[in-house]
Amino acid sequence: MKKIGVLGTGTMGAGIIQVLAQNGYEVAIRARREASIEKGLATVSKNLDRLVAKEKITAEAKEEIMGRIHGSTDIAIVKDADLIMEAAVEDMDAKKALFKELDELCKPETIIATNTSALSITEIAAATNRPDKVIGMHFFNPVPAMKLVEIVKGLTTSEETRTTIVELAKNLGKTPVDVAEAPGFVVNRILIPMINEAVGILADGVANAEGIDEAMKLGANHPMGPLALGDLIGLDVCLAIMETLYKEFGDTKYRPHPLLVKMVRANKLGRKTGVGFFDYS
Ligand code: CAA
Repeated sequence: MKKIGVLGTGTMGAGIIQVLAQNGYEVAIRARREASIEKGLATVSKNLDRLVAKEKITAEAKEEIMGRIHGSTDIAIVKDADLIMEAAVEDMDAKKALFKELDELCKPETIIATNTSALSITEIAAATNRPDKVIGMHFFNPVPAMKLVEIVKGLTTSEETRTTIVELAKNLGKTPVDVAEAPGFVVNRILIPMINEAVGILADGVANAEGIDEAMKLGANHPMGPLALGDLIGLDVCLAIMETLYKEFGDTKYRPHPLLVKMVRANKLGRKTGVGFFDYS
């Protein structure tokens, strides 16, 4: 596997692009807008600058890594990729349309992996004529720092596809964990309702945002508090995951808190818009 196509240059896409290029893969990125490609490249460049400043990599190594990344708004850039990583918007209809397009475009042997946080791999795979080569490869934010990759086989994913993706995760220095297809898989089914609960605690006035986060950092030894973590993940992503859990399980314990909904309506999405439960401007 030499050339990997990445669709999406948002928070997760940019992290995936960095990790792939740092590990020697040629990365072809496709985004809908030129500005998105530039923003993705700028994120990778800034992260690599941090590594240069910490003397973890040299300035020359940074240039080599950046030289392995090429972007275009034309989806044809990923046509000859050996593997596609999809990290686009978390919306089932959008993903199905994209997978159908990729299926028609790519080599028959190309595996198409999705970084979906909670959606059904089986349903996405059914939009293609290669359901055995569609799999979930779920990274965690910030991608360069987080070791876990959830490997999610859909009902139709082949064992050969799973083995290939497990090997890729290891080559990227990550620890793969097999999980069955289920809403939110393992981590998000635990983590996102916890963040939703923290939003409820804030709305109830039990403690302020700083207090809630301090309590969970010092009382549960979490590296960051749940509200800061929601801001890091993106409150829109947290809401989309809660909605999927609520819809799929039909259990009111997964109901998104109205304050979370309001934050998203106000475009207070966390770090990516400069403000969420905390201010990043
Ligand atoms: N991008 C890239 N790398 C980053 C980064 C970022 N935004 N933030 C931190 N890092 C890297 C640093 O470069 C550093 O790497 P080195 O050790 O190689 O130098 C490492 O992470 C540690 O960073 P710091 O020492 O600066 O900061 P820290 O010790 O406070 O750790 C943290 C920062 C890793 C973010 C830590 O607070 C943490 O683990 N937080 C929890 C993150 C988490 O739970 N993520 C999962 C979210 S759920 C998800 O992503 C799934 C989903 O589908 C929604």
